[in-house]
Amino acid sequence: MQRFHALVLGALAMAAIEAQAQAPAPDLAAGKARAEQICAACHGANGVSVGPAIPNLAGQKAAYLAAQLRDFRSGARKNAIMNPIAAQIGPADAANIAAFYASLQGAARAADTSPMFPSLAMTKVKLPADYKRDFVHYTTVNYPERPQVRHLYANRTAVDAAKTTGMLPNGSVLIIEVYVPKLDANRKPVAGSDGNLVPDTLSFVTVMEKQPGWGADVPEILRNGDWLYGAYNPDRSMRAANQAECLACHKPLAADDYLFSLKPLREFAQKR
Ligand code: HEC
Ligand code: HEC
Repeated sequence: MQRFHALVLGALAMAAIEAQAQAPAPDLAAGKARAEQICAACHGANGVSVGPAIPNLAGQKAAYLAAQLRDFRSGARKNAIMNPIAAQIGPADAANIAAFYASLQGAARAADTSPMFPSLAMTKVKLPADYKRDFVHYTTVNYPERPQVRHLYANRTAVDAAKTTGMLPNGSVLIIEVYVPKLDANRKPVAGSDGNLVPDTLSFVTVMEKQPGWGADVPEILRNGDWLYGAYNPDRSMRAANQAECLACHKPLAADDYLFSLKPLREFAQKR
C-alpha cells in the first residue's frame, strides 16, 4: 500500500514536470494586449475589477487563473457572463492572459477600477421617449422567486421583421420593463387572470438597439453584431450598468440575432 502510494505520487510528479517542460513560456505582452482588449471591461486593465460582483485577478496565481478559464470554457464552472467569453479563449491565449494578470500587484482592499472603454461603459442607445405608445408589449416573463415581472416591448421595425425568418434589421429596438410585482398579505407575488404576475413598481428599464456600424468598436469576443445596450432608472436617467456584461450574456444567442425572446417575438408577430 505504502509502496503503491509512492509510485502513484512519483508518476504524478513526473507528469507535472513533463507538463512544465512541454508548455511554452507564456507571452506576457500578448497576454496584456488581450487583457486590455477584452477582460479589462470587467476585471480592469490592472486586474482590479470594476464592480463588487467581479473578482480581482491581479496577483492571483497563474495556474489558478488558467484553470478557471479552462473550467468556464468546458462548462465545469458555470457563469452566464464568463462561459461565453472563455469559450472563445484557447489554452495558449488563456496561459498568456493568466501569466499577465498573475504578474500584477494585488489590489488594495475594496479598491475598484472605474469602467474603461468609453464605447462599452457608455452607449449610443437612448430610451425611446414614447415607447409605451409606439411599441408593442409582446411577452411577459415572470420571476416569482425574485420576485420580478418583466414586460418585453418591441418597436414596429422589429415586429414587422419578426413576421418572417431572418435577422432583425437596423432600427430594431427591444425594451424590458422590470417590475416588482404586487404582493399579497403573506408577501407572495399576486398573479392576474392571465397567469402573469401583476406589476406594481417599476425597478428599471433595459434597452437593446441595432444601428449600422454600432458594434464596430466592440471587441469581437463581446460583439453582438451591431446591437448596443443601455439601462435606465424609472425617472429615465441612465442607470450605471456595464455594457460588457449585457454583451457577454447575450453573446451565445448569435443564431437568434442575440435575442433570448426571438421565439415569442415571432409567435406574437405572426398572430398579428
Ligand atoms: C462582462 C464582464 C467580464 C468580462 C469582459 C470578463 N470577465 Fe471574467 N469574470 C466576470 C465575472 C462576473 C466573474 C465571476 C464569475 C463567477 O461568479 O463565477 C468572472 C470571473 C473570472 C475568473 C475567475 C476568478 C476567480 O477568482 O475564480 C477568471 C479567471 C476570469 N474571470 C478571467 C477573465 C478573462 C481572462 C477575461 C478576458 C478574456 C475575462 N474574465 C473577461 C466578468 C467578466
Ligand atoms: C446574466 C445574463 C444577462 C445579462 C447580463 C443581461 N441580459 Fe438581457 N436578457 C437575458 C435574458 C435571460 C433575457 C430574456 C428575458 C428575461 O428573462 O428577462 C434577456 C432579454 C433582454 C432583452 C429583450 C430582448 C431579448 O433578448 O429577449 C433586452 C432588451 C435586454 N435583455 C437588455 C439587456 C441589457 C441592456 C443588459 C445590460 C444592462 C442585459 N440585457 C444584460 C439575460 C441577460
